Amino acid sequence: MDGQKWAQETAGKIKHKMRIVAERNRHKIPYTTIDGVFDDWSGDRICWWTNGFWGGIMWQLYHATGEELYQEIALESEDKLDANLMSASGMNHDSGFRWLPTAVADYRVTGSRKSFNRGLLAANDMAGRFNPMGRFIRAWNDDGDGSKAGWAIIDCMMNLPLLYWAYEQIHDPRFLQIATMHADTAQKYFIREDGSANHIVSFDPVTGEFLETFGGQGYAEGSSWTRGQAWALYGFVLSYVHTKKDSYLNTARRVANYFIANTPESGLIPVDFRQPADCTLEDSTAAAIAACGLLEIAGQLEQTGELGKTESRVYKKAALKLLTALEEKRCNWDENHDNLLEKCTAAFHDEAHEFSIIYGDYYFIEAVWKLTGEELFIW
Ligand code: GLY
Repeated sequence: MDGQKWAQETAGKIKHKMRIVAERNRHKIPYTTIDGVFDDWSGDRICWWTNGFWGGIMWQLYHATGEELYQEIALESEDKLDANLMSASGMNHDSGFRWLPTAVADYRVTGSRKSFNRGLLAANDMAGRFNPMGRFIRAWNDDGDGSKAGWAIIDCMMNLPLLYWAYEQIHDPRFLQIATMHADTAQKYFIREDGSANHIVSFDPVTGEFLETFGGQGYAEGSSWTRGQAWALYGFVLSYVHTKKDSYLNTARRVANYFIANTPESGLIPVDFRQPADCTLEDSTAAAIAACGLLEIAGQLEQTGELGKTESRVYKKAALKLLTALEEKRCNWDENHDNLLEKCTAAFHDEAHEFSIIYGDYYFIEAVWKLTGEELFIW
């Protein structure tokens, strides 16, 4: 298959549909759809971790088309996120997901000082979550009882680029030190021998001692939540992009090889690679995120000489398998429906499964843009 031709055609379909969808939803910050219509999390749900992805979609579309509409919508969502930045209890380790695709993207495109300030505030808050004894960034908050003070999660690998960005801007090495110490801890305690990843690792928050692992949003303890695997493979290659430490690229490749080996023939990804054999639940977000990570690994390997170039083809082919399966079987191209991807799942044990989720659409677009060369690099 000619991946380039496929990507150009798919990018065209995305641009056509998203022009209509953006106009129709310009004042919202969506999470999912209800009967095909985007909902809105910009009011009292502004502190939800996914609220940066709508702005991210808008910046990617703006970067690819130059159409003002997308910039206007992105700026509106960035302003709304200030309510989150001012809410101590609404902040957690997911600052990267919220402010890299919004304020930092804005700063990269326009040089806005207001956006720079927002990015730096978010990075400072994230750095403040670092536990120096365990050398990890605390993931979630709790009710003030400290029950989650020692919890770190694999998703955090995707938030580290906010700290790398802050370091690259103001050259305070603490941002780099915190990011790399967390990545080193994640390498040691999250990534298993076979290349699969734990979702949650619990440390003693006082001594920093490793305690136990939890299944989190996956099927069970010791299982293999696919979105967590995707966060790991993309997150580690991003740490390599910012630090050039070979061990991060090698870890990303190990997780990628595990992901590829477990990808079903259909190219459609289950919620957990170790869910029961008779369970057919899928998570299209995991496929889209993994595709971005595989393409990033391929891009990095291409710069490492002839052998790297040969190997990079393996990762690009695997990414195309995921993306073409999504495009053919899991994309909704009907302009009357706001979402792109279908069959996304937030967590294995939630009541609801297989609906649309905004970050699935974001990563699908980013992956296609990686192939067409239209990506605004936001991580
Ligand atoms: N970062 C939370 C999730 O992937 O659901």
